[in-house]
Amino acid sequence: MTGYAARPILGAMDIFTAIEKRHSYRGPYKAGSVPRADLKKILLAAVRAPSGYNEQTTSFVAVDDSEKIRAISEILQQPRIADAPAVVVLCMDLSAKKRRDLYFGVEDYSAACENLLLAATALGYAAVWIDGSLRRDDRARRVAELLDVPDSFEVRVVVPLGVPEESWPQKEKKPPAERVFFNSFGSAG
Ligand SMILES: Cc1cc2nc3c(=O)[nH]c(=O)nc-3n(C[C@H](O)[C@H](O)[C@H](O)COP(=O)(O)O)c2cc1C
Repeated sequence: MTGYAARPILGAMDIFTAIEKRHSYRGPYKAGSVPRADLKKILLAAVRAPSGYNEQTTSFVAVDDSEKIRAISEILQQPRIADAPAVVVLCMDLSAKKRRDLYFGVEDYSAACENLLLAATALGYAAVWIDGSLRRDDRARRVAELLDVPDSFEVRVVVPLGVPEESWPQKEKKPPAERVFFNSFGSAG
């Protein structure tokens, strides 16, 4: 990626710490912008994600224009997003459906989104994967129009991010013993 720093993404935090610390954040953000250098690092992590057939069907629009962020917040009817210093919008390339027998657009953007969230966490930002809220009232199409996303792409996720003002508790996960098995489903090994 021309112009994107080819430095390691996890400088300050190892991958397991970033995984442990990541959580959805829907609170206020500290004032100030997300430097473009950090946004680029986060996006570089996202584009490195695996994708079916290596089709790389996910494109990203990083928004740090406050007017556009406010407009996205209005479309999604989520006032908190208006305060976010940056928002990344993940767009799925529908045209790839025609090229292969199988289409992995959802899996591709999901892998990319998790990379993005982990990289943001590693750099000290908090974020949330907003997907469900886009599926109502034609909101995804309205975000696409706002950002000039071509018709061959569908807006699938909006990720507001910034330095969190509040500390939020981690969500409880089910005990691993309920979900993780060895050699056969249900077996602790
Ligand atoms: C596919 C998907 C869709 C999601 N959609 C939304 C959404 O529309 N709005 C929202 O606030 N959070 C959304 N989330 C975040 C989840 O609510 C969150 O990941 C879950 O509650 C677990 O919390 P954690 O991320 O803190 O571990 C979504 C997450 C995923 C993976």
